[in-house]
Amino acid sequence: MKKYFVIGNPIDHSLSPLLHNYWIQHNNIEAVYDKKKIEDEDLKNLILEIKEKRVSGINITVPFKKKIIPYLEKLSPEANSTQSVNTIFLDKEQVIGHNTDIFGFESGIKETKFNLLNKEILILGAGGVVSSIIFALKKLKVSKITVSNRTRDKAENLKNLFKDIDVVNWGDMPNFDMIINATSIGLNNKDEMNLDFSKLSKNKFFYDLIYNPNETKFLKKGKSLGNITENGKMMFIHQASAAFKLWHGVWPEIDEKVFRLLEQ
Ligand code: ATR
Repeated sequence: MKKYFVIGNPIDHSLSPLLHNYWIQHNNIEAVYDKKKIEDEDLKNLILEIKEKRVSGINITVPFKKKIIPYLEKLSPEANSTQSVNTIFLDKEQVIGHNTDIFGFESGIKETKFNLLNKEILILGAGGVVSSIIFALKKLKVSKITVSNRTRDKAENLKNLFKDIDVVNWGDMPNFDMIINATSIGLNNKDEMNLDFSKLSKNKFFYDLIYNPNETKFLKKGKSLGNITENGKMMFIHQASAAFKLWHGVWPEIDEKVFRLLEQ
């Protein structure tokens, strides 16, 4: 029986096992997908398990998407450009790190029918997934990307990967067509974002990477001010589907059952 994992810390909240195990059963594959809370010092051994074929694949979540890189033998072009890995597999005896977050975000956005061509984007947050978001936005040919993070240095560091992004202080509100919440504010229903959106014009696109809860206060606020809103559910599903295809060779179905599975 092939073994797969998602690793992170914390990891309890992860819905990846639910989704992957559903697809594994649906496609009659002999495999099991589990979650594992790990510490930094566990990374090396985990990669050894892939190398020795005791584990067939791993998904990586916060805070290990960058930390895992020194232990890998090769990065896909996407993982290299973003310095972020969320999917690991063995190919020709080499442990490879890949990034399916880019595909996930891009596919999710395309389904919204909101055309990002030449649009101005404001990203809130500078955590592990933001380089993937920026990479995807550039593929979608937006005209300007601005990053605002509470700890400004972390946003400035993204300029090492993407020279043409702008960085503003947390609390500053430059003009934008689309605003993306990539912070962890909202994961907890009580979380409030101390930003003032009241002076913005309407019909902007408020996008939250968080999908559980379904509608964060950030999205509620955006909606009440007359804007279009979307959560990160489709990004999550699409990044998982691309990892599934890589490991098992088939694209899993994304149907009503999948959506219901994630509604909890
Ligand atoms: P990591 O930074 O380890 O990759 P993450 O969950 O991907 O973790 O990122 C959390 C993001 O939410 C960060 O951008 C963080 O800002 P800091 O870099 O200043 O820590 C942001 N964040 C979390 N709580 C916040 C809060 N109360 N106000 C503003 N930003 C917050």
